[in-house]
Amino acid sequence: MTKTNILVTGGAGYIGSHTVLALKQAGYNPVILDNLVYGHRDIVERVLKVELVEGDISDRALLDRLFATHDMAAIVHFAAYAYVGESVTDPAKYYRNNVVGTLTLLEAAIAANIKKIVFSSTCATYGMPETLPLTEDHPQNPINPYGSSKLMVERILNDFDTAYGLKSVIFRYFNAAGADKSGTLGEDHNPETHLIPLVLQTCLGQRDYISIFGTDYPTPDGTCIRDYIHVNDLATAHILGLEYLMGGGNSDAFNLGCGGGFSVQEVIETSLKVTGIPVKTVVTERRPGDPPVLVGSSEKAKQILGWSPQYPQLEDIIAHAWQWHQQRHGKSV
Ligand code: UFG
Repeated sequence: MTKTNILVTGGAGYIGSHTVLALKQAGYNPVILDNLVYGHRDIVERVLKVELVEGDISDRALLDRLFATHDMAAIVHFAAYAYVGESVTDPAKYYRNNVVGTLTLLEAAIAANIKKIVFSSTCATYGMPETLPLTEDHPQNPINPYGSSKLMVERILNDFDTAYGLKSVIFRYFNAAGADKSGTLGEDHNPETHLIPLVLQTCLGQRDYISIFGTDYPTPDGTCIRDYIHVNDLATAHILGLEYLMGGGNSDAFNLGCGGGFSVQEVIETSLKVTGIPVKTVVTERRPGDPPVLVGSSEKAKQILGWSPQYPQLEDIIAHAWQWHQQRHGKSV
């Protein structure tokens, strides 16, 4: 029996690669489109072993060729720039790639009669929380161009459904973290800006200390609270989102988080528990644009998609990330 082709843009990146693996395991034939600006060819060749089309989502001729030669049942669209800080200093890059690039992808999809898409959005589309936990109907007022670029695509998807019948599942991720428990896939950003990998790199001696961006927030220990979600649980949600669309589901948006908040201090303490290695911390100024607390309710994804996180414990998330980091850097500590 021929397998169902699914186009995965950004499939050589962090969340994309874990989803490609999950798609393979679920019996699909994922085809990756990735410009490899941040994606990793070696992961695709060594671990994922699926077709990689090297190219850009804004290359309409390439997309037309790809859709003419592959019968794609749906698209899972990860490809995007995702550095919040950089989006503030270089918004043009974010709007061009994340919005204009996506528009090209969607127009090519409609022309090829592909009518199903799962889109990676973010809790950054909500901006400053007015109520917690954040639910999908919370107002969306992003406070940085990255969040705005994702919200613009959400709006485009909404209009494309009305006009062209493109059905979409929008996932608003909270803080993606962890690694596949096999130890073969993980988080490998360059530059790295995320808390958990930075703490673990400090444990490995690759950094001298971890900065804590502010201890004067209105939280119990004064540091920011985030809702960390295991990357494998995100991957599973994408399979469920696809199946929902294949089953005739209507366009909808879902939060994906665990609903439990952990402070920066708690992340550092849990890392010590997992690794046994204390790290030096240095308290610095607040990072601009960081809300004190970002915690989401994922009840909607649970009820409509039947999703539930398999690894809601921060300790498991960090343990899997730690296994990956040690393997990646050839160290057994
Ligand atoms: N932090 C530190 N020190 C560091 C790095 C981070 O204290 O060296 C803090 C941050 O201030 C924040 C928390 O750790 O409070 C988590 O920071 P991350 O950079 O790991 O994650 P963010 O919450 O900033 O970013 C995530 C996603 C973005 C998304 C954003 C929404 O990675 O894509 O949530 O706010 F836009």
